[in-house]
Amino acid sequence: MSVDLRTHYLGMELANPLVPSASTLSSRTDTLRRLEGAGAAAIVLYSLFEEQIEHEEMQVHGLLEMSAESNPEARSYFPELEDYNTGADAYLRHLEATKAELQIPVIGSLNGISVGGWTKYAKRIQDAGADALELNIYFVAADPDLTSADVEQRYLDLLAAVRESVSIPLAVKVGPYFSSMANMARRLVQAGADGLVLFNRFLQPDLDLDTLKVDPTLHLSTPEELRLPLRWIAILRGRVDASLAATTGIHRAKDALKMLLVGADVTMMASALYRNGPEHLKATLDGVREWLEEHEYESVEQMKGSVSQIACEDPVAFERSNYMHALVNYISPYDWRMVPGSPQA
Ligand SMILES: Cc1cc2nc3c(=O)[nH]c(=O)nc-3n(C[C@H](O)[C@H](O)[C@H](O)COP(=O)(O)O)c2cc1C
Repeated sequence: MSVDLRTHYLGMELANPLVPSASTLSSRTDTLRRLEGAGAAAIVLYSLFEEQIEHEEMQVHGLLEMSAESNPEARSYFPELEDYNTGADAYLRHLEATKAELQIPVIGSLNGISVGGWTKYAKRIQDAGADALELNIYFVAADPDLTSADVEQRYLDLLAAVRESVSIPLAVKVGPYFSSMANMARRLVQAGADGLVLFNRFLQPDLDLDTLKVDPTLHLSTPEELRLPLRWIAILRGRVDASLAATTGIHRAKDALKMLLVGADVTMMASALYRNGPEHLKATLDGVREWLEEHEYESVEQMKGSVSQIACEDPVAFERSNYMHALVNYISPYDWRMVPGSPQA
């Protein structure tokens, strides 16, 4: 008997739990077709950024010139945005074309940090035919005057504004850096999120020692990085009334399986597809299917969340005791356990 790979995400029934996450892989129609052919159950389009929308609106109103004259920083900032060559209208046209081209659900993505006129694009994304919307809030709270409560309120206000303007399912993609992640997750759901996409991978700038310039080069992820979303999806499964999507560090079938076992409804991939090409999704899906068959699961729904924190045998393993255990049991040739005759050896 073949395994039933279907899953539910944001109220949609998907053929399987593998979804390419928001990235420029979705900017080319031939790549989109290859992803669908490889078995992608849905696609999240690359993001339309608040900065792009505002940049375009400033251009339309002829304000760019003034701004660049008055603020030297703006001059270096805006040309970079022009490199994207994808204004808001181009984004909407691409979304419409993608919907016409693909059979699978298409999720639009809006990326920003402030409540403002740009959020009207949520409705435009809906009107262009998106099956759902992912709101990515990527905020680096660098202002020492801003309290955690201020930052959290900003997320909630932005989410509520977008929620108000669309009726399609809405997921919010956030980073992990909240003092109380579980509480924040619950409040995001109360503010209107139908799903949580965990986690945004904050790009950490490096420093070039020759030029002493900040080096913002993007490095693709590694599977090691999945441990952060793995823990939080395990903790949140069954505690928030929302779909859960896992993103960051999912490269192979075993990575996707772990995420499903702890409670993800879908597993999203970007880096692995950039590294190995769109057909890597098929190899991953085959691996998921084989593992389920070998372990005699009938369906993805049956195994989803079976090792979440509230379901697993050792719930504290997802919390602090895991940390103490790991530190104390790390064995190195230089520690006390390796000293012959030591009373602790
Ligand atoms: C080249 C590239 C472009 C990306 N573009 C977007 C984007 O437009 N919007 C977004 O929300 N995330 C974007 N991401 C982040 C991915 O969706 C994903 O969350 C992140 O890369 C972690 O997943 P991974 O480990 O599978 O790469 C991008 C990632 C990469 C590598």
